[in-house]
Amino acid sequence: MTTSRRPTIGVFDSGVGGLTVLRALLQRIPDADYLYFGDTARLPYGSKSAATVAHYATGAVHYLQDHGAELLVIACNTATALAFNEIKSASRVGVIGVVEPGAEAAAKATRRKNVVVIGTDATISSHAYQRALQSKGVAVREKACPLFVPLVEEGWVEHGVTEQVARIYLSEAFSDDARDADVLVLGCTHYPLIKPLLRRVAPDHVNIVDSAESTAHAVAEQLRIAPLHSAEESEKRGVPRLKFFATDSAEKFKKMGTRFLGRPVEEVEHVDLKE
Ligand code: DGL
Repeated sequence: MTTSRRPTIGVFDSGVGGLTVLRALLQRIPDADYLYFGDTARLPYGSKSAATVAHYATGAVHYLQDHGAELLVIACNTATALAFNEIKSASRVGVIGVVEPGAEAAAKATRRKNVVVIGTDATISSHAYQRALQSKGVAVREKACPLFVPLVEEGWVEHGVTEQVARIYLSEAFSDDARDADVLVLGCTHYPLIKPLLRRVAPDHVNIVDSAESTAHAVAEQLRIAPLHSAEESEKRGVPRLKFFATDSAEKFKKMGTRFLGRPVEEVEHVDLKE
């Protein structure tokens, strides 16, 4: 794919969390049109089976394709981890998930070849990050952190309770063989919002890899888009056009979405996906 005209990029997530990936995409590729689908009526995906997630996700990506998406970004770590192959085979256009770019960035960042990945229960039990990292010669400790999603949705991103929970999770994660791990991969859409808190709680020598940012980088590479060097350059390249689809209330999506995207979420259409 070349960049001779504005690409239409479809971004899929189980809900509002994937807006952290859209946020990274907007910073990296402002001169594109974006269609974002949040399956808010059926979230969370993180506690569901692979078959259910694959079924939900393929329905949503068909919807995005039918509305003009020329490239699909699976922003949801759980959907990527559990159903990437099914989504790919169900798509007519290129598909980029978050796991491979996150694993690649982590493999580049680790000097000790030892990495910790955190994510939902489903992402961690699928071992998708483990497979991706081990194939690059990196040892992996995976840790499910299921309480982070509800805490972030509650808005408790700088809250004592979230910090306490993070201390427990990370001390378990960075123990024994993983004591020396020097990279922490944020393998869930919601975790970029608690990155400052995780930075404080994680051991000092640890670098944090945000799979949202790594994915935006991978998308730009696929579209052969040159990196942006300044805010002025970003302005010159044009204003992105955004359209949102949500399977639950559009109003709720707007309210919560604004927090995840870091800018107002405006054009939201309610979608009823038939089973
Ligand atoms: N979007 C999901 C992920 O990145 C988190 C929310 C959910 O469980 O649906 O894994």
